[in-house]
This record gives sequence, C-alpha cells and structure tokens, in this order.
Amino acid sequence: MLSTSVVSSVTSLSAQASPSRLRPADLLRITDQGAQDVLDGRFAHLLPRAGEWPTLERWSTRLHADDDVDVWLISWVPGATTELHDHAGSLGALTVLSGVLAEYRWSGSELKYRTLEAGDQASFPLGWVHDVMEAPGGPADPAAPTLSVHAYSPPLTAMSYYEVTDHGSLRRTRTELTDLPEGRTA
Ligand SMILES: [Fe+2]
Repeated sequence: MLSTSVVSSVTSLSAQASPSRLRPADLLRITDQGAQDVLDGRFAHLLPRAGEWPTLERWSTRLHADDDVDVWLISWVPGATTELHDHAGSLGALTVLSGVLAEYRWSGSELKYRTLEAGDQASFPLGWVHDVMEAPGGPADPAAPTLSVHAYSPPLTAMSYYEVTDHGSLRRTRTELTDLPEGRTA
C-alpha cells in the first residue's frame, strides 16, 4: 500500500504537470454530454437546417465556453483535412455523433491510422499530433453529415503544424495563434 506522503506527492506532481484542472476523462464526459445535447436538439438554434449543412467546407460552432474549457460542434466534408497539428498547451477530446472520422496520429516514428465511428471517443494529451478528416466514402446520407463534438482545456489558443520528413521524423512547420478547433478548414 502506498503511504499517504507518496500518494500526495504523486498527486501534487500530476497537478503541476497538467495545464488544466480538468482531466482527459472530464473532457471525454463533456464531449459526450455535448453530443447528447446536440442530438436532443438543445443547440438546434445554432445549427443549419436539415439539408442545409455546408458541403464544401468544414463548419463549426461553439457550444460552450468558460475559463476552463471550450466545446465545439464540427461538421466535416469530404477531402478537407486539418493537416498534422497539435493543440499547443491544451488537452483535447472528441466524441463522434454521426458518420466516420479518420485520424493519422504521429506515434513517434510513424503515422498510425484509425477510424472513429458514431459513439466513439478519443482524448488528446499534450504533444498529440494528428490529422483528422472525414473517412473516405463520406456519410451515406448527405442530409446527415459527419459530426463530432470537441473540447479543449484550457481553451485553445494556438496550434503548431507539422510535416513528416524524408528521414521519417516530424518537423514543425509553423505555429498559429487560434481559438478555432482543428486547424485548417478547407
Ligand atoms: Fe486536433
């Protein structure tokens, strides 16, 4: 059994290491609740009408903002990638509401591919570098776009972008100040 002093020093260490008082599990829960609220129609006033979702550019709207967390709804369109990016000093998480997302994540030595389907979740610790897009094939029904809810804590302030070099390493190409979710929009 760990002594109280060891536990408290580990807790203190972890509190110091995190940029946010929220944990990844909190962000996952927040995006799950946001997704449910969207499905329940709570944010209907913020959304395009059925059949009028943008089809050429990624679209987003902020569902919630406070000092700790920003929550966004994103609709995805075919072929629009975010480029490889990080979330600077913010932790992140997402829940997919509908459709399928594809993600390439830098593992430290290569890009790992996965897909995230409706109901799937992912969290992004500091240093997570990924490129996110609608999975090839797109939604079966254009009137039901690929949607995901994202949370960032502390609220997003910057993103760095990267490329994979010919030598198989990651090179940062630029950093941009932004409070918009998931990078480039088209
Ligand atoms: Fe991202």
